Amino acid sequence: MLPFQRGCWQRTFMAEEKSILLIVAGGIAAYKSLELVRLLRRQGIAVRAVMTGSAHEFVTPLSLGVLTEDEVYGDMFNLKEEREIGHIQLSREADLIVVCPATANILAKMASGIADDLATTILLATDKPVLAVPAMNVRMWGHAATQRNLKQLRSDGIHVMQPDEGGMACGEFGPGRLPEPLDIAKQICDLLSHPFDTALSSGRAPTTIAAAPLEAQPDFAPPEHRPLYGKHVLITAGPTREAIDPVRYIANRSSGRQGFAIAQAAADAGAEVTLIAGPVHLATPAGVIRIDVESALEMQAAVEAALPADAAIMVAAVADWRAATNAEQKIKKKGDTPAPLQLVENPDILAGLAKHKTRPELLIGFAAETEKIVEHATAKLAKKGCDWIVANDVSGDVMGGTHNAVTLVTAEGHDAWDDAPKDAVARKLIEKIVEKIGDTDER
Ligand code: C5P
Repeated sequence: MLPFQRGCWQRTFMAEEKSILLIVAGGIAAYKSLELVRLLRRQGIAVRAVMTGSAHEFVTPLSLGVLTEDEVYGDMFNLKEEREIGHIQLSREADLIVVCPATANILAKMASGIADDLATTILLATDKPVLAVPAMNVRMWGHAATQRNLKQLRSDGIHVMQPDEGGMACGEFGPGRLPEPLDIAKQICDLLSHPFDTALSSGRAPTTIAAAPLEAQPDFAPPEHRPLYGKHVLITAGPTREAIDPVRYIANRSSGRQGFAIAQAAADAGAEVTLIAGPVHLATPAGVIRIDVESALEMQAAVEAALPADAAIMVAAVADWRAATNAEQKIKKKGDTPAPLQLVENPDILAGLAKHKTRPELLIGFAAETEKIVEHATAKLAKKGCDWIVANDVSGDVMGGTHNAVTLVTAEGHDAWDDAPKDAVARKLIEKIVEKIGDTDER
């Protein structure tokens, strides 16, 4: 297991900054630790993360690293890590250690003083307060062994949060669900004596609600009667911007219009919509949760943090490459020789989502093509592992324009739609999505 290494991200906590060391153990709720990090960073709390081996099955070190803006640690016997920052230092430098999610396994190890990896060694070596946030199956929670371990941990002075009750990923019902990240963040602020600022907690860009948001929705009755009511639809839109130095970046011509129109149409159909937007000049569609990002890595982390979703529509024109290094200072001209620009490939967010543990039921990609549209889109469908591809011909002025002529490509075949305004294309796509995952019952 390798740590996620970006040398420039390894930062020293500022003296006045409250900081936590977050230990992410391997449970289905691990993805919620990403949201927790986002909330804590918004409160001005520094977060350094350690992952157990099995946590890698649920979240990527890359996502955690982007959100913590730091290296993510995982391997106790990595010499480089030990030289730069040893496990004892990791265990002592933060103001609080948070284990989230705390699985039955890590709680058992903590209760018996087992130290067989970096996470448990830190927990044994620390002289700082520890908060455990349990999440597990209801029967594991209720098991005599777990309850015995919890009693032991409480008497050892470990703070233990009570899990929530409700339906679980495994289909059972009862106590064992990870508490909401917002509640965990509040508990952490409490333990750190750090004021919790509710205004900062939403983590959402200011939402522009249209003066009469329901004006464009004459077809719909109350929200619960809408066909996507109760569904979470995740959408990426716009370009990404890959920094070269503080003033320069790599980008593309995507305006974000098509993705924003789809977000609006999904919200109109009653869905809870998370729109992850690259840098664009567009107002937030009414009733949509918008998260602004710049780079592909940030977009990937935001997508993971927004899971689970019932449908994901990846409309963003993600830059295929980013600069291998993001220079801290503006790169200077040197004589007549242009500065070499080394590129590295960005992760494919769509393909990653197709293989994700919590893959959305319906996963839709976009494909901008200039020739052999259907042929290329069909190949992309298989390569990316998604369910549908919306292919568009970008040889004209589609990118940045107001109209779009698309072909919907699925495993069953393809359907070419007439050239239409982007919001009409969006509504038609949402109709197709409703047919697939929506509630079309007359109520
Ligand atoms: O490979 P190509 O860029 O043509 O794929 C386009 C589709 O894949 C779009 O849905 C886009 O949002 C998605 N994509 C992605 N991450 C990347 C590149 C593309 O999610 N790095």
